[in-house]
Amino acid sequence: MFQTRITEMFGIRYPIICGGMFWVGRAELVAAVANAGGLGFMVGATFGEDLDALRAEIRKARDLTDGPIGLNINLFPAVRHQPIEEWAQLAIQEKIPVVETSGRSPEGIVQALHEGGVKIMHKVAGVRYARTAERVGCDAVAIVGYECGGHPGLDMVTSLILVPLCADAVSIPVVAGGGFADGRGLVTALALGADAVLMGTRFMATQECYGHPAWKEYLVKAAESDTAYVMRTIGNATRVARNPLSDKVLEMEARGTTIEELIPVITGRPNAAFEMGEVEDTLASVGQAVGLIRDIPTVQEFFDRTLEQAVQVRERLDRIVPRAAPDWLLSALGSKKSAPA
Ligand SMILES: Cc1cc2nc3c(=O)[nH]c(=O)nc-3n(C[C@H](O)[C@H](O)[C@H](O)COP(=O)(O)O)c2cc1C
Repeated sequence: MFQTRITEMFGIRYPIICGGMFWVGRAELVAAVANAGGLGFMVGATFGEDLDALRAEIRKARDLTDGPIGLNINLFPAVRHQPIEEWAQLAIQEKIPVVETSGRSPEGIVQALHEGGVKIMHKVAGVRYARTAERVGCDAVAIVGYECGGHPGLDMVTSLILVPLCADAVSIPVVAGGGFADGRGLVTALALGADAVLMGTRFMATQECYGHPAWKEYLVKAAESDTAYVMRTIGNATRVARNPLSDKVLEMEARGTTIEELIPVITGRPNAAFEMGEVEDTLASVGQAVGLIRDIPTVQEFFDRTLEQAVQVRERLDRIVPRAAPDWLLSALGSKKSAPA
């Protein structure tokens, strides 16, 4: 049950992955996801150049679970220096089984990670980048659509289109992200050709996720239309909670701003929402899946209900979609052979 190429490759019970989330995705969340049978990623960038703090967080997660702990290595352009090679070495030393990379091709660290026994799932927002991930030797590719929290890429194409295109384009396992938040999403991801679903926004509204209670309450109340897609014009598109600051950034972009003019505006109070629950004056990553969040369960409760709902969806589909091609379809196809699965 629920066995896919990803559950086999990553050694997990269920094809449910919690993507790396800067600042909020810490030991408690990643361990809770592992205990529930999935895989979660801690983010190197949360700790910047403080490698000891990252190592301590990984070990803290290890104390909370015997399951796999993943590490996200962010390759996005950043204002501050990012110790990418050091994060990769730390993943090897700490025997991290899977690294999630994102932002640009991980080609430079693929060989070292593989030699150190680490698998690589590269996260992309376009099919051409998925092909590159396969070409440079990644073990799996995660593809996220326009609706996702974090970085949806520049093409503005939704997951519903990207996932099947990606599954057709590469032969390595595909993980579907962006807009998924429940058991319907899990079955949909698998139906579209993915070997697992990846969620971020939904996992932010769990008991174990780091974050101010007011921020989590905001996630429960926010609607699917309460996000904004900002910074596309400077090539670093991000989906965030819509507020006066995101409106201001969009206005600046509409009149043709520069990166230099934007930087002081966008780097003002980076973690005010997560730390203090202040949502009005900060750019906090959130996906459109926020509209599907109605409560703040534990990760275990979320897994239980997601898996149960997935089974219910299957039962519903069994009543609607025939398991074998009916006679009328076979004769319409002019063949006695069953249609391809
Ligand atoms: C608060 C937040 C922070 C994130 N930080 C990162 C990050 O540091 N690196 C990364 O690769 N993806 C990051 N993401 C993206 C997630 O890993 C994941 O791809 C995305 O949330 C999936 O779409 P969804 O939000 O619709 O579930 C972040 C997402 C959120 C919501």
